[in-house]
Amino acid sequence: MSDSIIGAGPKRIDGQRKVTGEAPYAADHHPDNMAYGYGVFSTIASGTITGLDLEAARQSPGVIDIFHHNHFPELHRTPSSMAQGNKVEETRLPFEDNRVHYEGQFVALVVADTFDNARAAARKVGVSYQRDDAIANLDQGVKAHGTKPGSGNHERGDAEGNFDGAAHSIDVTYTTPVETHNPMEMHASVASWEGDRLSIFESSQGVVQQRGALSKIFGIPPSHIRVESPFIGSGFGSKLWMWPHAVAASVAARETGRPVQLVVPRPQMFTTTGHRPETRQRMRLATDDNGRLVSLRHESINTTSFTDQYVETCGSVTQSLYSCPNLTVSHETTRVNRGTPTSMRAPGAAPGLFALESAIDEMALAAGVDPLEFRLNNYADRDESQDLDFSSNHIREATEKAAEKFGWHDRNPEVGSMRDGHEIVGYGMAACNWEAIKRECEARVSLRADGTAYVTCATQDIGTGTYTIIAQTVSDITGLGLEKITVRLGDTSYPNGPISGGSWTTATTLPAVAAATREAIKELKGYATSEKGDFADVDNDSDSLVFENGQLTHDGQGVNYVDVLKGQKLASADGHAHTQGADDRYSYRSFGAHFVEVRWDPGISNLRVSRVVSAIDVGRVINSLTARNQVEGAIVMGLGMAHFEATDYDARNGRPVNNNYAEYVVPVHADQPPEVDVILLDYPDLEFNEFGARGIGEIGITGMAAAVANAVYHATGKRIRDLPIFKEKLM
Ligand code: MOS
Repeated sequence: MSDSIIGAGPKRIDGQRKVTGEAPYAADHHPDNMAYGYGVFSTIASGTITGLDLEAARQSPGVIDIFHHNHFPELHRTPSSMAQGNKVEETRLPFEDNRVHYEGQFVALVVADTFDNARAAARKVGVSYQRDDAIANLDQGVKAHGTKPGSGNHERGDAEGNFDGAAHSIDVTYTTPVETHNPMEMHASVASWEGDRLSIFESSQGVVQQRGALSKIFGIPPSHIRVESPFIGSGFGSKLWMWPHAVAASVAARETGRPVQLVVPRPQMFTTTGHRPETRQRMRLATDDNGRLVSLRHESINTTSFTDQYVETCGSVTQSLYSCPNLTVSHETTRVNRGTPTSMRAPGAAPGLFALESAIDEMALAAGVDPLEFRLNNYADRDESQDLDFSSNHIREATEKAAEKFGWHDRNPEVGSMRDGHEIVGYGMAACNWEAIKRECEARVSLRADGTAYVTCATQDIGTGTYTIIAQTVSDITGLGLEKITVRLGDTSYPNGPISGGSWTTATTLPAVAAATREAIKELKGYATSEKGDFADVDNDSDSLVFENGQLTHDGQGVNYVDVLKGQKLASADGHAHTQGADDRYSYRSFGAHFVEVRWDPGISNLRVSRVVSAIDVGRVINSLTARNQVEGAIVMGLGMAHFEATDYDARNGRPVNNNYAEYVVPVHADQPPEVDVILLDYPDLEFNEFGARGIGEIGITGMAAAVANAVYHATGKRIRDLPIFKEKLM
């Protein structure tokens, strides 16, 4: 079959359902007799619940039950293993005891006949606390109880011994704040039970993992649980793993005997559904006379909760992006009174490359080398951390292409020298990088007698275009038009699929879908070559029997597959496949570079990003439209990280103070650069999978904040090492 559909840019096949409001999201489900839950959340960040006054709430209209630590069934914890398929990030169960570990923790759950009645009653619940001193931020955590070793560390050569005598060196520390995912769609569960069978609609990036976790927590077999998440108003990582509200909703439904809907209010989406933790990263780099790196140390500390150890692996990219014989990467955590952190788009790499790519800029300047030249001189040609070749790496070409298109070579390196009217223009650049991962996956494909194909896989489409690229894959092999292909995702009753995360959905699901399609064709050939078939004389595995454009063809004679099935009164030819994860022959990674132009108007203290050119090498591009969309979206999110995003906590008591859409600032349309130019290199990585695709969801955000910071330095001479780069910091 021609490969034209792979790499083309068809629009999302689910797009119309989404924009017309037809696509059901979790909280759109209203099963008969459904009741509504509303949480009561702790108003202290640390302490003990000493009393609950429930009288007024009980008498409030429509109240069915109120759950809390003295009225909640005994459950079990999940081992929280991704490999076992039951991972959660916050392992403490809701209402497990009377302890409060963070502000905005569930302390009670009111269930009532309507949403308004539940909310009104929840506000009447009185909670008294014994308040302990809260550890409100990273500095306080380190001071109070130091740090704990994390994971993902790496050491090679002698970084310390090669630092002091080096020709040029820097020793600088960067910090990044808590960032909160803020997907538009709220976290929500609609749970119902039939006997000992649980069914739950959830806004989830991983229905199979949620089923596994619920199975462990309730002690019932996975086959008795159905998790559905066919449409998601994004997640950015906050919906990869189940959070306490889903357990609370499931218990409430079981105990009240009614379906229960529970939506996490926006303020508590800052507390009980994860966040990107605060980091402090010390970077020590040194070069020889020629500007070659001789020593590199990246030491990172991130905040975690009192209930769980979450490591933000800031040095994950540092290990392999640059060639350096003497290198250490270390991660540590410190406990604070916040909810448990979790993966947020490009976990580790997003804050890590802010530090690394800012430090590379500082190192280049200290060594007297142009930052672009410095990178080209120091990029690694193989993965020195694993002692492996890269499967495919075009970072030099990406960097040079983007530099050319951006006009980097016209840059006057002198700080503040490029003026345009009353604005000072700054140019900055940074590399971007992300790992390429492929997991095991199952899929099922049916070629149906009505001329359509039907595909199922228990992965999800989080808005990225998974429905569409799966349909493209089936279309590529069968020749059926996209309009004839139905794709069903986000339901654990389908064959096991991966979480929608880690940028691994494309590389993981497409091989399984392709294999299942070929299995279906094989079954079809079996029918065609059977006694009653159209090709009864042909061997069923004969190479001369080919499936093309919906036809089975042999020796110039073609029969439409629909006729093959109808001739034998068959509904469909079906294929199921189970494909495996990546091997370890190579280091599989994606690469790229961002170039950013900022404009600083000192007269009115206005700072804006006016232009971005990014070149990205993610292997083969499956859908040029959705791929570009993801990089553009990640660039804008990276600008948010650079300029705006920070969840602020009151240092006196650990309370998040801007826990809403008004005060937690993300970029709006007016903040978008007038020009965003994304170059997709499109070199198939055929060592990685048959499609040569490595995944594209996360790489675009990595390096963006550093590229902005480097441009800001070029414009203003101010080196901002603590995100976000508020313009107040430039005044
Ligand atoms: Mo991504 S942080 O793996 O949703």
